[in-house]
Amino acid sequence: MLKPLRTLFILTALLVVSACATVPSGPGRTAIASAHPLATRAGFEIIDRGGNAFDAAVAVSAALAVVEPAGSGLGGGGFWLLHRQADDYQVMLDGREKAPLAAHRDMYLDAESNFIPERSKDGALAAGIPGTPAALALLAEKYGRLPLSESLQPAIRYAQQGFVIDERHRRLLRFRRQVLTADPVAADIFLENGAVPQRGAILKQPDLAETLEKLAESGREGFYAGETAAKLVTGVQAAGGIWTLEDLARYRVVERRPVQGEYRGIRISSAALPSSGGIVLLEALQILAGYDLSSLDNITRKHLIVEALRRAYHDRALYLGDSDFIEVPVERLLDADYATGLRSAIRLDRSLPSTYLSDDLPEDPEGRHTTHFSIIDSEGNRVAATMSINFPFGSAFVAPGTGVLLNDEMDDFASRPGALNGYGLTGGEANAIAPGKHMLSSMSPTFLDDGERVAVLGTPGGSRIISMLLLAVLDFAAENGPESWVSVPRFHHQYIPDVIQYEPGGLTTEEIEQLGKLGHQFREVSYRYGNMQAVQWHRQTGRLDAASDPRGLGRAEVR
Ligand code: GLY
Repeated sequence: MLKPLRTLFILTALLVVSACATVPSGPGRTAIASAHPLATRAGFEIIDRGGNAFDAAVAVSAALAVVEPAGSGLGGGGFWLLHRQADDYQVMLDGREKAPLAAHRDMYLDAESNFIPERSKDGALAAGIPGTPAALALLAEKYGRLPLSESLQPAIRYAQQGFVIDERHRRLLRFRRQVLTADPVAADIFLENGAVPQRGAILKQPDLAETLEKLAESGREGFYAGETAAKLVTGVQAAGGIWTLEDLARYRVVERRPVQGEYRGIRISSAALPSSGGIVLLEALQILAGYDLSSLDNITRKHLIVEALRRAYHDRALYLGDSDFIEVPVERLLDADYATGLRSAIRLDRSLPSTYLSDDLPEDPEGRHTTHFSIIDSEGNRVAATMSINFPFGSAFVAPGTGVLLNDEMDDFASRPGALNGYGLTGGEANAIAPGKHMLSSMSPTFLDDGERVAVLGTPGGSRIISMLLLAVLDFAAENGPESWVSVPRFHHQYIPDVIQYEPGGLTTEEIEQLGKLGHQFREVSYRYGNMQAVQWHRQTGRLDAASDPRGLGRAEVR
């Protein structure tokens, strides 16, 4: 080698070595934020046993299924967004529920084609085929280091030994008490003589522990075949549901490419269809990217955020559904020129009502639950997972002998074009019910990466999930950290109803007055919503932070 060339080579090698020495491939410690302290603890227990972020994700998911039964569970589904650091590989495990094979588009309508909301929310007929057990099995087999028999241990222990129920659990029980009372098995597990248990009561779930043990022993077959499957199908059919053994046998998790895009130098990976989350989030950000938000006054900034959300949610209603069943114009919705077109109809001096996008806007009811956790392990592997059984305590139906509370995710379909679901979301043909189809979701587990900082975040909150994520991304862009993202005062617009919804304190009196002058209408939500869980790693400094939403009772920890 020529001398100058060799010197150059050595210098380059030294630079590479020193860069590697100062920027390790992982943070060297682990951060976990989840909606329940026992779930966070379960994750660390599995890390301490030699597991990676994916094993910890199995443990946290299963623990949440036991200790936060109002939000998620084996009878539900979710999306697990994964980043494997060794080969920079990202994938979304789609463990979303599916409509049973005997489902049909009019199954929640009466003889006059009126939508009967209770049918898609309460009881066995409201339940889609669960995806969570299959997702946990795949997560362990393909991405983890430990067998399910190890990573499910904390959850099995919590189900056997019980745990003290918290105030949030009691509040959600009060909300669903009536429906839970209708199912003697659910009432026996969650209520005490039909009433909400006293503060400090211990909830034990021996049937659920057994179901978890079968999953631990036999993997997906332990749930989707054999004794558990038989009990589930018998129980559902006896209660008027339409599940068959074939539904369970055919259920498969789909590994999907996350939706990816960029906002002002921040790379964003988020949930792909059948979640609308990633698309709506990126479409709204694409609209906002045409403005320099940091140079605008507070009112104009909030006005533009609302106008961007209005348009992105409008497109959600028009175009989004299960891409395994319908053609969705994802590329167009995320195209910069398409965003420019949408932006051209946004005025800075007034809001344009949703009727300009379409007429005939129905009224909206309310409802929400779900859960989320975020993990970065010492090697830099990441998991953002949002899981749900839909409404608090799902369909409020437990198949006898399983301890498994079933979801009421069928309500996330558009049961009749234009009809509103429990989140006040409208939808059309794209999200109509069909056998084996995934219902559209808003769950949005998300990764952010601006080269220096890596963030993992997400939240429950039904249709408001996406706007909460949007506000968090803008806060990340403003160089704030996880404590700030999870605390940001929240406001929301979803095209229909044509109002800015805000949590108490989400907008100030002055902001309401000023935004009102631009033509906006408002509705204060009666409680502070969301339960965001977030972690962040600074590549350069090695700093690792975790934060749990102050609105919830979760726990964020770095070890
Ligand atoms: N069940 C709430 C959602 O998936 O968006």
